[in-house]
Amino acid sequence: MLKSTLLKATEAGGKILQQYFNGVFEVSSKSTVNDLVTEADKKSEAVIIEVIRDTYPDHFILSEEVGAMETDSAYKWIIDPIDGTVNFANGIPICCVSIGVEKEGEMVLGAVYNPFMNELFVAEKGKGATLNDKPIHVSAKASVATSCLVTGFPYKWEESDRNPLQVLTSVIQQGIPVRRLGSAAIDLCWVACGRFDGFWEHHLQAWDSAAGYLMVEEAGGKVTDFSGDKYSPYQNDILATNGHIHSELRNLINGK
Ligand code: IPD
Ligand code: CA
Ligand code: CA
Ligand code: CA
Repeated sequence: MLKSTLLKATEAGGKILQQYFNGVFEVSSKSTVNDLVTEADKKSEAVIIEVIRDTYPDHFILSEEVGAMETDSAYKWIIDPIDGTVNFANGIPICCVSIGVEKEGEMVLGAVYNPFMNELFVAEKGKGATLNDKPIHVSAKASVATSCLVTGFPYKWEESDRNPLQVLTSVIQQGIPVRRLGSAAIDLCWVACGRFDGFWEHHLQAWDSAAGYLMVEEAGGKVTDFSGDKYSPYQNDILATNGHIHSELRNLINGK
């Protein structure tokens, strides 16, 4: 029931992305002029919440645009109605709906759907991860030197924060290919299915990584923070890899 509701909600959100894509819609800014929210983010969020509320009126919901709708349920739905809003607003079809479900503080289910590539990624705690119903696994690449990596940059950062440009520099100075897709959820899913060997980003929010990090773990990969501690979607820094290159990439992004 939980899984079918998750899939129904993800699909409903995906339909909204398709309806609005390349059309005329309202766009406004949030924390910075380029931190966007569109009419489609809000509409996708509304239909997703409606589907969840239909079956689970008492579950806790945490969603990017409306925030936290707290209850004392053991279940919490963590929703990104469009991950990759800047791509979406520019007609770049690298964006998705991302929904994670937590039970008693542990991520148990996740779905990421990019309707423009017709790709639905699903992860279930202890049961693996799939892409369009076929099991997926992380890559077997054993060295960072031959890896293909992906990252993302925050809209802004404080002087006191680790400088994302220094981290990027230490990787690209080694001549390692690094991509920037613009959707953290897709970045994580592409690590899960072996297209990328590793991903790191500073300052993600819970909705960016909730579903994707379970995807990587269930596909056999490893997800930690930059210091190598167990990852939680409520912290900022994420490092997700196929597992084999994890400590090597961690050292590199820490400037070691
Ligand atoms: C953003 C994307 C992007 C990442 C940003 C996120 P949004 O989410 O995941 O890849 O670099 O940090 O905020 O705003 O498009 O949902
Ligand atoms: Ca956003
Ligand atoms: Ca996001
Ligand atoms: Ca979003």
